[in-house]
Amino acid sequence: MRVPSDSAFEVHELRPEETRELRHRVLWPHKRSAQECVIDVDEADHATHLGVFMAEPAPWGVSLDGRAGALVGVCSLFDQPCTRCAVPWENEDALRLRVMGTLPEVRGQGAGTALIAGALDEVVRRGKSVLWCDAREVAFGFYERLGFGFMNEKYELPDVGPHRTMALVLSSPRN
Ligand SMILES: CC(C)(COP(=O)(O)OP(=O)(O)OC[C@H]1O[C@@H](n2cnc3c(N)ncnc32)[C@H](O)[C@@H]1OP(=O)(O)O)[C@@H](O)C(=O)NCCC(=O)NCCS
Repeated sequence: MRVPSDSAFEVHELRPEETRELRHRVLWPHKRSAQECVIDVDEADHATHLGVFMAEPAPWGVSLDGRAGALVGVCSLFDQPCTRCAVPWENEDALRLRVMGTLPEVRGQGAGTALIAGALDEVVRRGKSVLWCDAREVAFGFYERLGFGFMNEKYELPDVGPHRTMALVLSSPRN
């Protein structure tokens, strides 16, 4: 996967609390506030939070104190093994992708692809070769386009609906 060099998006690491407003708007609007949009491992040493920013003014974007540009998407990465199904890789070779989303205003313009490219850079930086996630049904097509494959059949997650485990296994050299 390649992000075009003239991409309107830049990916930067975020502090955990900087992900919350975007998570609230995109992923968990049923929660009462952005402060509730946390997961238990957000502050873990093995957590990496990524944000995708638009350089151009975007009044509907999320503005973060001390950062230029508008935040338009986030994802988080954790050193967590896949327990949904049997997998053909070693646990230590994989990173788990969670809480991934982009604002509706930018969808289809490459922000999600830029985040996945940033996540794969982190996989490689940590000496690993697999990125896996519990994918929401509405996002199956997105992940498939980027080279992820299905690892199991559909299952239901409370509040968020049908999911399947998907994974992208990097070949060498990086695809
Ligand atoms: C899924 C999501 C992250 C995609 O983000 P995005 O910013 O639209 O991604 P991109 O613009 O980089 O899209 C890359 C390609 O996938 C396609 N695509 C995007 N979303 C898609 C979807 N849900 N189904 C099928 N294709 C999709 C785009 O059209 C684009 O195709 P192209 O390469 O032919 O132009 C975004 O739609 C989203 O946040 N959805 C709601 C939250 C969610 O479901 N998150 C995933 C949780 S597992």
